[in-house]
Amino acid sequence: MSSAAASASSTAPVRARGGDEALASEEVVVVDYGGQYSQLIARRVRECGVFSELIPHGAALAEVRRRRPRGIILSGGPASVYADQAPPLERELLELGVPVLGICYGMQLLVHSLGGRVEQAAVGEFGRSALAVRAPGRLLAGLPSEQTCWMSHRDTVFEPPPGFLTLASSDASPVAALESQERGIYGIQFHPEVAHTPFGQAILERFLGEICGCARSWSPASIIDEQVARIAEQVGEGRVICGLSGGVDSSVAALLVHRAVGDRLTCVFVDHGLMRRDEGEQVKRAFRDAFSVPLVAVDAQERFLSRLQGVIDPEAKRKAIGEEFIRVFEEQAARLAAGGQRARYLVQGTLYSDVIESGGGSGSARIKSHHNVGGLPERLDLELVEPLRMLFKDEVRAVGEQLGLPERLVWRQPFPGPGLAIRIVGGEATRERLEILREADHILQEEIRAAGLYHELWQSFCVLPDIRAVGVQGDERTYGYVIAIRAVTSDDAMTADWARLPYDLLERVASRMLSEIRAVGRVVLDITSKPPGTIEWE
Ligand code: XMP
Repeated sequence: MSSAAASASSTAPVRARGGDEALASEEVVVVDYGGQYSQLIARRVRECGVFSELIPHGAALAEVRRRRPRGIILSGGPASVYADQAPPLERELLELGVPVLGICYGMQLLVHSLGGRVEQAAVGEFGRSALAVRAPGRLLAGLPSEQTCWMSHRDTVFEPPPGFLTLASSDASPVAALESQERGIYGIQFHPEVAHTPFGQAILERFLGEICGCARSWSPASIIDEQVARIAEQVGEGRVICGLSGGVDSSVAALLVHRAVGDRLTCVFVDHGLMRRDEGEQVKRAFRDAFSVPLVAVDAQERFLSRLQGVIDPEAKRKAIGEEFIRVFEEQAARLAAGGQRARYLVQGTLYSDVIESGGGSGSARIKSHHNVGGLPERLDLELVEPLRMLFKDEVRAVGEQLGLPERLVWRQPFPGPGLAIRIVGGEATRERLEILREADHILQEEIRAAGLYHELWQSFCVLPDIRAVGVQGDERTYGYVIAIRAVTSDDAMTADWARLPYDLLERVASRMLSEIRAVGRVVLDITSKPPGTIEWE
């Protein structure tokens, strides 16, 4: 089987194994019409204890027939129902006896195709709106008659379809919520999934519980047994190899696979010398000692250092590191094979957000190759095992905690595969500079942890530009490296804000760096958000 086919087959939704096929799965699907919040809807549904995945609108009917979910949510989207290219509603979706909730564009689609009136209003409605509940119906029962909600639309529903009850309105939306209990169809113009709609989660809970009758028993941890069984089935008696990076994704993926296949998994940890202080030891301690996972730790520092000699351009660094990584990994795989332990499977920590981004999601997945191990599956003819394909990052952390992964690994901030090398900016990553940067980074992390801020920051790190600045220490003129402190808050790395670290913390960090690291002559703070900057400097 090709690696892509293998991955696609592992995308199927969670279901009871061997269960009665007549029973609907405890899942609610989100039909994606391209709204910016579609992923968030699925996350909110999961937070209510119901498994949820996005399905593309073009394949909605076939997917719903295959999965038989408890409910269907039609997402928002950028189109107008009158546009030529507007994604259509597959009408049979409404005839399956499965409750449907349309949100924003999803509601307009319902209204438009069932004979109500949707028109472009003179003014759109964007941001917070006051919602007046006229008749709570089933969807809004028990919720306040006056609430705030978040709107983002230009087309507006002016009349519900025949047989529908208008539940609520806002200044600009005469029909802001509607339902037909008889047909099991519900709609809201506003976005329940965003934090600016305070009762949004309560509305989703009503839809999932009262209307769809979901058991609400799903949790990230509840996938552990399911995934372990699935991995065991995929791998059979085969052997599996995993490149451990020390990040939470590869760690959790490796632990799940280890539960499924035990010692037929070998983890390969390539120490390229570009990691932060003590990280290599932490990985070895956790996997080899605490979990007894077969672990090959390769000390490849010298190889990477010599490969990086004279390399200044950031993309050239990334390429050199990526290629060297593949080479080392291939050697290890060959060594295992020579010892009678040829692996046929490769573990990858692909997350659900990667699957969605790469246009996969539901069976037809085109796999985004993980940039740190890109090229490996093809070159080594390995089939992918991707046990995290259905999880969001915070859910992976919950699974990691459940599996007993140490706190430091579970909550580790993201760290780029090429490591410290791409944080030595405009210059070569030499042993000396890596050591300076590692020490500076260690001081920053120590102080940030001591201040209790580590978990609040998406990333915090140091950058070493290849420049020096004049200073004076004692009576002597110095000429030392500049260390830049970079700390950002973010939800997903797509955008980021520079973190307002307390002055006294910055003061402690700077004075420690200047006194504890001889080669450092100056410390500066990066106050650039993303955009216009990026998180890393190169
Ligand atoms: P930027 O700098 O583009 O980074 O805002 C977004 C996120 O990606 C990480 N990053 C990398 N991760 N290999 C990786 O594995 C890389 O070459 C790489 N470059 C950036 C960065 O740390 C941030 O989390």
